[in-house]
Amino acid sequence: MMIKKCLFPAAGYGTRFLPATKAMPKEVMPIVDKPLIQYGVEEALDAGMYDIAMVTGRGKRALEDHFDVSYELEHQISGTDKEARLSSIRRLMEECTFSYTRQKEMLGLGHAILTGEPLIGREPFGVILADDLCDGEGDGVMSQLARVYAKYRCSVVAIEEVPEDEVSKYGVIAGSSIEDGLYMISDMVEKPAPEDAPSNLAIIGRYILTPDIFDILRETPPGKGGEIQITDALLLQARRNMVLAYKFKGTRFDCGSMEGFVAATNHYYQRSRSAEPA
Ligand code: G1P
Repeated sequence: MMIKKCLFPAAGYGTRFLPATKAMPKEVMPIVDKPLIQYGVEEALDAGMYDIAMVTGRGKRALEDHFDVSYELEHQISGTDKEARLSSIRRLMEECTFSYTRQKEMLGLGHAILTGEPLIGREPFGVILADDLCDGEGDGVMSQLARVYAKYRCSVVAIEEVPEDEVSKYGVIAGSSIEDGLYMISDMVEKPAPEDAPSNLAIIGRYILTPDIFDILRETPPGKGGEIQITDALLLQARRNMVLAYKFKGTRFDCGSMEGFVAATNHYYQRSRSAEPA
């Protein structure tokens, strides 16, 4: 069974980028010529997930507008060579459906995912945190996770090794290796101090979740930072059933940080230059 739906939690304030994000959602900040969120939607569609569900919040209307027709603009540039610049977004508008719901209070990533339940229903779904921009070089990270899901039919998270002094920025897993790069999770801790981290395998913003996660999230008490954490819910799911962690192939940029944002910009700028005819 193919997974059709992908959820994008996109309600956060983006305070690390103030004042840029005062009147503009962080998800529409551009990496070269595309907003961050568009890279995520492209990755979802490449994995066959065409039903795009977004959890937004106040002040996020630019997100919806980006995936909708802009009549005046389209009329203005129709028939000119500028029209080609719209081809990537037009493809998404043609091939995807978009639905939105608003998270009224910021109570954590787990709460944001639970807020998306009415858009998802009772089927497995992908989750993409657009801040984590991933270049899978032709094989998107969500496509990689979908292949793991197709084989094992349980929740899967993408992981990467991080330096020990950075574990406190992530959810961190412990597990036993069942295949090359694939672990069965036995423990997970949200943003541990380095001395408490069970490993240096950090969860990055790509998940495939089975729908029982919603029932678990409803029971999950606030954890780290007083927020409802998807990491805590996944640990419960791992104990009741099975959750896998997959060391993805590709490069991730943490576009929630200034350094990662600039690195991603340079990476995709070089890419666009080398794609241009000489
Ligand atoms: C969230 C998750 C964390 C994960 C991270 C990946 O944290 O809570 O487990 O490792 O995304 O980017 P955030 O970065 O939203 O604080």
